[in-house]
Amino acid sequence: MSDEKRDISRRQFLNYTLTGVGGFMAAGLLISPVRMAIDPVLKSGEGGDFANVGLEVSEITSDPQRVDWTVDQVDGWYESEVNQTAWVYRNDDDEIVAFSPVCKHLGCFVSWEGNDDYPEEYFCPCHNGRYYKNGVNVPGTPPLQPLDVYEQEERDGMLFLGNIRPHEEA
Ligand code: FES
Repeated sequence: MSDEKRDISRRQFLNYTLTGVGGFMAAGLLISPVRMAIDPVLKSGEGGDFANVGLEVSEITSDPQRVDWTVDQVDGWYESEVNQTAWVYRNDDDEIVAFSPVCKHLGCFVSWEGNDDYPEEYFCPCHNGRYYKNGVNVPGTPPLQPLDVYEQEERDGMLFLGNIRPHEEA
């Protein structure tokens, strides 16, 4: 009687021990890769979504001007500096507007008054795309949507630009 009891106890003991050691080893093997995979997600963003583009708000007029700046971009484990560009002006309501220069046709860069034949318009040289000063695409030209706009705000007299969103008049 006692032999049988001892056998079962021994078997249970071995089962518990092997399960515990195996589980511990498996957890050790899994934790590291899982931590590495989700680490970028766990990191908080630095400095918010807005960047100082180096332009004083007082210098913004009704004439669109090109603004270039760089932002630090973190894509998973890869960090890089990315060049950004905007066309910035004051509209008729005295509001500051910052357009993305990326053409809504196939993604070339547009320029303000980039073609002498079309003054007071943004022009895309790739397929003669055109946009009015308010960013709306000129009907009959390749782009089918207005230029996207940057979120913007003023801090200490400087212009800060953030994420790009669709034009409201789309
Ligand atoms: S990419 Fe601008 S018109 Fe085609």
